[in-house]
Order: sequence, then C-alpha cells, then structure tokens
Amino acid sequence: MTQNVSMMKFNNGNEVPALGLGTWKSKPDEVTQAVKDAIDLGYRHIDCAYAYGNEKEVGAALEAKIAEGVVKRQDLFITSKLWNTFHKPELVEPAIKTTLSNLGLEYLDLYLIHSPIAFKEGDDLRPMNADGTPALSNVDYLDTWKAMEGLVTEGLTKNIGISNFNSEQVERVLKNCTIKPVTNQIECHPYLTQKKLSALCMEKGILITAYSPLGCPDRPWAKPDDPKLLDDKKLGELAKKYNKTLAQVLIRYQLDRGHIVIPKSVTKSRIAENAEVFDFKLTPEDIAYIDTFDCNGRICSITNVKINFFFSWKSSPHYPFHIPF
Ligand SMILES: NC(=O)c1ccc[n+]([C@@H]2O[C@H](COP(=O)([O-])OP(=O)(O)OC[C@H]3O[C@@H](n4cnc5c(N)ncnc54)[C@H](OP(=O)(O)O)[C@@H]3O)[C@@H](O)[C@H]2O)c1
Repeated sequence: MTQNVSMMKFNNGNEVPALGLGTWKSKPDEVTQAVKDAIDLGYRHIDCAYAYGNEKEVGAALEAKIAEGVVKRQDLFITSKLWNTFHKPELVEPAIKTTLSNLGLEYLDLYLIHSPIAFKEGDDLRPMNADGTPALSNVDYLDTWKAMEGLVTEGLTKNIGISNFNSEQVERVLKNCTIKPVTNQIECHPYLTQKKLSALCMEKGILITAYSPLGCPDRPWAKPDDPKLLDDKKLGELAKKYNKTLAQVLIRYQLDRGHIVIPKSVTKSRIAENAEVFDFKLTPEDIAYIDTFDCNGRICSITNVKINFFFSWKSSPHYPFHIPF
C-alpha cells in the first residue's frame, strides 16, 4: 500500500484525488492488470478516454476490484473524455452512455471534452478527406458544452471539464456556461510549464490536470534524438538531493504547483514509485529552478504526421495552440 493520496477540491465542492493513473497507450492486454495493481497500491483515480480504445479492459479491472471488496464504486474517481467526432450536441449523451457501458459504470466522476476541435461525425475516429487532410466538423465547443451540462443534470457524470483548451477558449466557455468546468486537462512538465494558462485557470477556479508529466517517452512519434525529460541530467541531480527518483520529482513538481497529475504506467514497480510522492515537498527555490527548464517543448501539439490520432488539425478554427497560451 502506498502513501495516502491527497485530495483536492473542485469549484463545486466535489473532491478529486490529486494523483491518478493515466491509461493512454496502455495496451488492452496490459491495462486490466495495471489498473488492478494501481487500485491495490492505493490509487483511486483513473484517467480514461473513449479514444484510447481500452475502456472495456479498464472496466474489467474496476469490476474485479469492486467484486473482491477492495474498493467500493464511491471510493473511485473515474474520468473519461468525449472524442472529437461526438461534439454535435445530440451525440454527447449517446457517447457518454457508450463509455459508461464500456467501463461497466452507472456514472462517471468526470467527463471532459477531449479537445476543442470537432471532427466529422461518424464511426471513423480519425476521419480524413480524400486529399489526406483531416475531415473537420463546424460544431462550436460552446454548443458541446451545453450538452455536457445536461449530463450532470441527468446524473451521468458528477463533474464536467475541458482538455487542451487555450486561455481564450477557457474564457469563452466561462462567459457562456451555466456549469463551470472543474478542470482543464493540459500537457504540463518542466519543458512546457504552462505558467500563464495555469495562473489564469487557477484565478478562475479551474484546476489544472497535468498530462504527460513525465514527458511521454512512449509517444508513438518520438525520434531517437528528441530530448528525454526522464534522462535530463540536471533534473536528475536535483532528484538526488531529495533522495527520490526523477519521475517522483516530476510528479511532485505538479502537486506542489496545485495541479492534479496523472502519470501513465503499466509497470507495477513504476505505478508504486509514482505514488510514493506524499512524503516530501519541493522547496519554492527548486520549483522556480525547474520552471527555468521551460522551452515551449510541447509534445502533444496535435500537428504531427498521420500517426495515431495526432495529425494536422491546424485547419480547424478551434485549433488551440496558435496563441501563446
Ligand atoms: N487529454 C489529453 O489530450 C491527453 C493527452 C496525453 C495524455 N493524457 C493522459 O495523461 C496520461 C499521462 O500522460 P502520457 O501517457 O502522455 O505520458 P507520461 O505519463 O508522461 O509518461 C508515460 C511513460 O512513462 C513511463 N513511466 C511511467 N512511470 C515511470 C517511472 N517511474 N520511471 C520511468 N518511466 C516511467 C511509462 O512506461 P510504462 O508504462 O512502460 O511503465 C510510459 O512510457 C495519459 O496516459 C492519459 O491518461 C491526456
């Protein structure tokens, strides 16, 4: 059993475990065991998405751990995300119902709009035009957000939020919503510190959830010469000072900034290691030092070549990364 995971409070008073297990790229034949291990080790927060293609296998782990009596449903905090092909308001409720059925749950704890960009509706999750460009839809994420609000009223999710929204998009949602997003899930690590977007969201009462906190070394488009956050010598030196691994310092860096953090692993020893972060804190000086590593090093820019679902979406009017933050 790992140390007790601390809880954070959303703007609606609901609580969320500050540490969760990521599941993107966790293969269906690995993720069931990874989620079971995580629950045994004390994790209660699991970050899922329809687009990850492994929700049924995550659901199998949840069902097993509930059946074994290790946890009750109400002890768990399960997040999923509305994929880009389901932004049309009438598709939002069927989409969450599919995810709930995959996960074997009656409600989610958190449902996010995966990105502000809408894709052409249909069965293909990565629709392409004949000329090889991504097939987009003109749905405005504000209309999608209204439908997301309806899911709370229906009792299908306890909380709703956004992901990959830039500062202007956050403010536009806030000006037009009835229910405020509880979180903006964004890429965040020392090479992309997101100081301005974090400050804006915090000021508005929206918690940041940091994704790719370890620099996403298993991203499908990684090139051999790309800088590897987990191999950074200077940051490694800092970790030695705390008698912790660099992964633990990278996770603590998010927690000490008031961010929720969701490192992914399918390796039991790493799942355990990543949760052993509640017995130390970084000094303000060391946080400021880590901040200096920022180099606008965005990994998930959604503009990479046609690999996985990250291909060029820049033509969308809602592409989020045109502006500085
Ligand atoms: N909303 C979005 O658009 C979005 C985008 C990206 C990610 N996310 C979410 O955020 C989660 C985390 O981000 P991520 O998966 O991109 O990357 P990440 O958590 O930064 O890195 C995961 C990689 O680090 C390895 N790792 C984990 N713990 C380690 C440790 N202690 N020492 C060394 N290596 C370690 C994992 O290996 P093994 O698994 O082989 O152990 C895996 O290769 C995702 O899984 C997903 O749930 C959301």
